[in-house]
Amino acid sequence: MPVAFSLSKEIPKAHYVVHLTAKGKKPLNASAELLKAHAEAVKNGVQLAHFSQSNAVQSVVHVADDVRSAVGREHIRNAGFKTLTWLNSASIGAVAVVNHTAKGEAMLLFAEGLSLGNYRYTALFSDQKSKTNALKKCALIDGSLSKPTLARFTSVIDAVCFTRDLVNHPLSHLNAEGLANAAKDQGQRHGFKVEVLNKKKIESLKMGGLLAVNRGSVDPPTFTIATYQPKNAVNAKPLVLVGKGVVFDTGGMSLKPTANSMDFMKSDMAGAAAVLGCISAAAAMKLPVYIIALIPATDNRVNGNAVVPGDVITMYDGTTVEVKNTDAEGRLLLADALAYAKKLNPELVFDAATLTGASVRAVGTYATSIMGTASQKVMNTIVKSGEDTYERVVPFPLWSEYADELRSTVADMSNLGKSEAGQISAGKFLEHFTDYPWVHFDIAGPSYLHAPVTYRVEGGTGVGVRLMVRFIEQYYNV
Ligand code: BES
Ligand code: ZN
Ligand code: ZN
Repeated sequence: MPVAFSLSKEIPKAHYVVHLTAKGKKPLNASAELLKAHAEAVKNGVQLAHFSQSNAVQSVVHVADDVRSAVGREHIRNAGFKTLTWLNSASIGAVAVVNHTAKGEAMLLFAEGLSLGNYRYTALFSDQKSKTNALKKCALIDGSLSKPTLARFTSVIDAVCFTRDLVNHPLSHLNAEGLANAAKDQGQRHGFKVEVLNKKKIESLKMGGLLAVNRGSVDPPTFTIATYQPKNAVNAKPLVLVGKGVVFDTGGMSLKPTANSMDFMKSDMAGAAAVLGCISAAAAMKLPVYIIALIPATDNRVNGNAVVPGDVITMYDGTTVEVKNTDAEGRLLLADALAYAKKLNPELVFDAATLTGASVRAVGTYATSIMGTASQKVMNTIVKSGEDTYERVVPFPLWSEYADELRSTVADMSNLGKSEAGQISAGKFLEHFTDYPWVHFDIAGPSYLHAPVTYRVEGGTGVGVRLMVRFIEQYYNV
C-alpha cells in the first residue's frame, strides 16, 4: 500500500515527527532543540539524526536544498528514502514531516522518495499483511503546499505503484486478457474509455505482427485502445502512447536462456504498464490533454504452430517482414500499433518498450534510450523532463545506415539488425511504420531492477510514468 498523505497545520496526534531542514541554512520556525540538533547533525556529517523535544524523540533530516539540478533533486528523494528505511525499522506507522526549508518543492521530493520507496509487491503472499511495511500515514506540514498540488502528487505516485504492480505480476497472474482487463478497471476508476479488440477482431484487421508473435501461445492476443478526451483539452489532435505488451517473452523458437535473461521476462510489458500508468495519472489529475493509449499484447512462446526463423509475415500496413529471429518480437507488434496510430491523426506519438538488450548494454539501468522524428522542441522537453524526474534519457540518432541492416532478400524488411547499436536498428524498424512526429523510448534497462536502488525498489520500477507525465505538463503547459 502506498503511503496515505495529508496536509496539516499542526502535528496530528500519535504521529512521529521528522523535521526537514536545509543544510547550509538556519531552519525556519525552529525550536531551540531543533536548532541545536540541526547544527550538530550538519557538523558531524550525519544526514538523519535523532533528538528529544517535549519528552519525545524526534528526527531531523537535513538536505542540500538544491531543487534546480537533477542531482540535487534526486539527493532529496534519496533522503526521503533513507528516512523511510529508518521509520520502518523503528516500526513507525504514522509520521508528520515539518518543512523548515524555504521550498515546498523540497518537501514533495522528500515525500516522493519516501512513498515510492515504501512500495512492496505483496499481491501473491498468502499473508499479505505481514509483508507490508510499517509506515502507512504521512502528514505534511508546510504552509506553501495546497490541496490540489498534493492531489496531483499522489495521483502520480499511485500511477507509478499501479505500473509496478502490473510489471511484477507473473504470467500466471497476468496474461494478455488480464492486461486488457487491468486497463478497463483503470478506465472505470479514473474516467477514461477503454475498448479491447479480441483475437477475431485482430484477425479481421490483419494485424500480422501481433498475430505472428501470438502463434505460439495458448492465450489469445488483445489490442487495447484507451481514450482520455477531456472537454477542455488544449490539443485537438491526440497525443498517442503505444506500449509494448509482451506479457512474457520466452524468445519463441529463438529461445532465451533462463538465467539473467528469460527469468525476468514477465517484465516485458513494462512499456504497456507505463503508458497505462501515464494515461491513468493524466485522467486522475484531470489534465486538459487529449491522450490515446494503444496496447498490443500477447506472450511470446513456443509450441507446434509458433513462428520459426525465416517465416515471412504480412503486417497490418501490408509490409512483408522476414522473421529472422523470433526473439525480436516486440517490434512486430509495436509496428502494427504504430501503423494503426496513423488512423488517429495524432499530433505526436510516443512508444515505450523493453525492446533491446543493446539499450541495456549502452546505458545500463540508469537511462532510457530515445530516438525519433519529432521536433527538437519535443526532444528537448523530454530530456528536461528526464532530468526533472531523474528518469533520464539518452538520445540516439536514426541514421539511414542503420536501416540498411534490416534488408531482406525475400521480403520488404527483416526484423533483425546487427547486435552493435541494436537499439537503433530496432528504432529504424519501427520508424518504417510511422508517418507522424514520433519518439521511441527503449526502457529495457531501467524498467526492472534485480536489486533495489534506493526508492526504486527491486522488480518493476514504473519508469516512464513520471517522465511522460512531466513531459505532458511541460509541453502542454498544464
Ligand atoms: N524483451 C527483449 C529485450 C530485453 C532485454 C528487455 C533485456 C529487457 C531486458 C526483446 O524482445 C529481445 O529479446 N530483444 C532481442 C532482439 C534481438 C534478437 C535483435 C535482444 O535485444 O537481444
Ligand atoms: Zn524478445
Ligand atoms: Zn521482448
